[in-house]
Amino acid sequence: MTTSRHPDLDPSHSETDAVEFSLRPQKLNEYIGQTKTKAKIDIALDAARKRSEVLEHVLLFGPPGLGKTTLANVLANEMGAHCRVIQAPALEKKGDLAAILTNLEEGDFLFIDEIHRLAPPIEEMLYSAMEDRHLNILIGQGPSAQTLQVDLKPFTLVGATTRAGLISKPLRDRFGMTFRLDFYSVEDLSHILIRNAQLLKLPMDAAACSAIAKRSRGTPRICNRLLRRCRDFAQVKGSGNLTSSLAEDCLSLHEVDERGLDALDRLYLETLVSKFNGGPVGLKTLSSALGEDEGALEDLVEPYLMQVGLLDRTQQGRKATEETYRFLGLR
Ligand SMILES: Nc1ncnc2c1ncn2[C@@H]1O[C@H](COP(=O)(O)OP(=O)(O)OP(=O)(O)O)[C@@H](O)[C@H]1O
Ligand SMILES: [Mg+2]
Repeated sequence: MTTSRHPDLDPSHSETDAVEFSLRPQKLNEYIGQTKTKAKIDIALDAARKRSEVLEHVLLFGPPGLGKTTLANVLANEMGAHCRVIQAPALEKKGDLAAILTNLEEGDFLFIDEIHRLAPPIEEMLYSAMEDRHLNILIGQGPSAQTLQVDLKPFTLVGATTRAGLISKPLRDRFGMTFRLDFYSVEDLSHILIRNAQLLKLPMDAAACSAIAKRSRGTPRICNRLLRRCRDFAQVKGSGNLTSSLAEDCLSLHEVDERGLDALDRLYLETLVSKFNGGPVGLKTLSSALGEDEGALEDLVEPYLMQVGLLDRTQQGRKATEETYRFLGLR
């Protein structure tokens, strides 16, 4: 498997980054955009608080960087609860999950990221934990083996995935609420940028703000990353104020074009058109032609290209659109 060159698949660009962390919304009113999802969540939170119950299990899906992890933490904060975070592939044995679940206190949140990557026996164990709040643990081996039922305290599971299609039906059915996060509008991204520039104490022109928002491919993680690059640029090349001309210069230095497409997006489209005659072509073939991880293409490159009409995904494979040829200056 090839590793991704894409900056948004590098973990150092998300959770572990101190600046990024400081910009992460903590409460629902700081979480910008996703209006419909927030309206539903607001009611569910209010109802759970009024009844003094735990929030029902929540499944979040959508492309990387749209705010799934952020929202999971916001939910826990809003319920005044502690949130335990785990990456699904880190759960190797049933005992790993059993230890986590039995240690949860009443009302705690358990956030399982990349939940489509749970090993099947662990996923099955989760079914009874989610539905009936108990675990069935097999003790001993052979004919003398016994099943021990362990009761769990009421908890909320939040699952997140970029691949809703890979979640099995039994798992999906056990979530009380499922939300699909959408790409953000330029207006929402501008709000995020204004809030974050203030937090970073960075004076920013309105035109600089909209230049960054337009190039952030609908994704808060990208707008935050571009804002940090522009902040560096303004400090080194200017007097620290982010003017529109400094922002434009910085964005072209980073090869981000007017629609937010970067070098990998362009290479993807050029390869699709020049090597495969515009498709249809399978993801595996494209991935090896590009030397890029299939997952990175599927998660980070394709959803946005489809969103802006530069790519079609058909049963037969990936296909260029009329717009792709215009974009590449071929029509
Ligand atoms: N609605 C929002 N309002 C303001 N900032 C946001 C919002 N959503 C996300 N962000 C910012 O974008 C960053 C990336 O979001 P987050 O890590 O939650 O994405 P994700 O969907 O979990 O991505 P991945 O699939 O890669 O795990 C966050 O650190 C946060 O600062
Ligand atoms: Mg996340």
